Amino acid sequence: MPLSRRFRALKAAHFRAGFGGIRCWGAIGRNRLNETFRVIRFENVGMRYGTGPEVLRDVSFDLPDGSFHFLTGASGAGKSSLLRLMYLAQRPSRGLISIFDRDLSTIPRKELPMLRRKIGVVYQDFRLLDHLTTFENVALPLKVKGASEGVVRKHVGELLAWVGLNDQAHARPATLSGGQQQRAAIARAVVTRPQILLADEPTGNVDDAYAVRLLFLLQELHRQGTTVVIATHNHALIERFRHPVLHLEDGILSRVGEDPVYDG
Ligand SMILES: Nc1ncnc2c1ncn2[C@@H]1O[C@H](COP(=O)(O)OP(=O)(O)OP(=O)(O)O)[C@@H](O)[C@H]1O
Ligand SMILES: [Mg+2]
Repeated sequence: MPLSRRFRALKAAHFRAGFGGIRCWGAIGRNRLNETFRVIRFENVGMRYGTGPEVLRDVSFDLPDGSFHFLTGASGAGKSSLLRLMYLAQRPSRGLISIFDRDLSTIPRKELPMLRRKIGVVYQDFRLLDHLTTFENVALPLKVKGASEGVVRKHVGELLAWVGLNDQAHARPATLSGGQQQRAAIARAVVTRPQILLADEPTGNVDDAYAVRLLFLLQELHRQGTTVVIATHNHALIERFRHPVLHLEDGILSRVGEDPVYDG
């Protein structure tokens, strides 16, 4: 199906399901993208933990600006490890990685935090800060960016409503269920509308209806221009949202499907 028709169909389904857009993000519509620009590039990348065996081997791929990919593979295949390389928490043991067209091996360590701020991450284990409330956890990345109190209130309030956590806004993470923590982690990752969004099994702890709702949120972010990669075991979501798939098998990556930015 051509891209424009697919988006119309998704939008219709989105509103049938009773989900309004994220109003504070503005009208639906992608920012101008440079689709020939590769936001992330891997060339013959290998990675090992310490002196252990390679858990990623000869991984080569690139992600165009504004693309949306699922990342699949059996448990232990290397999905979280690959995402860790993409969000700069781990260095490769060999090969070349470039992010935003910059070779990672030449970026001074002191510049990494600035680059990381352009990348939203949903961690497999959530990593919410225990001493902050749900609202404060979600607000933190916006505050770090220097957003005003008004913007923080509006954006965080709207996102918490979307992920169904209004009533838990003042609760601490330890008192939330696994699914509620996961929804808070997703809200925190998208609140700044990062240039790249990497989500590690972001719907693993929620029911099917919430999984679809959360995917619509990530889809909305994608329509604002964000490059999205979602690691998931949920084949129903992949079937429903029909984005191309990066598949890992024992640390070796293959691509499945066409990239939708080229089919419209
Ligand atoms: N911190 C670590 N130290 C040593 N080995 C690790 C570490 N983290 C992961 N591994 C190993 O790396 C390999 C890939 O693990 P990874 O967590 O990337 O898999 P995954 O595809 O994300 O699995 P899952 O679907 O269960 O989350 C596994 O063999 C695992 O044992
Ligand atoms: Mg994992």
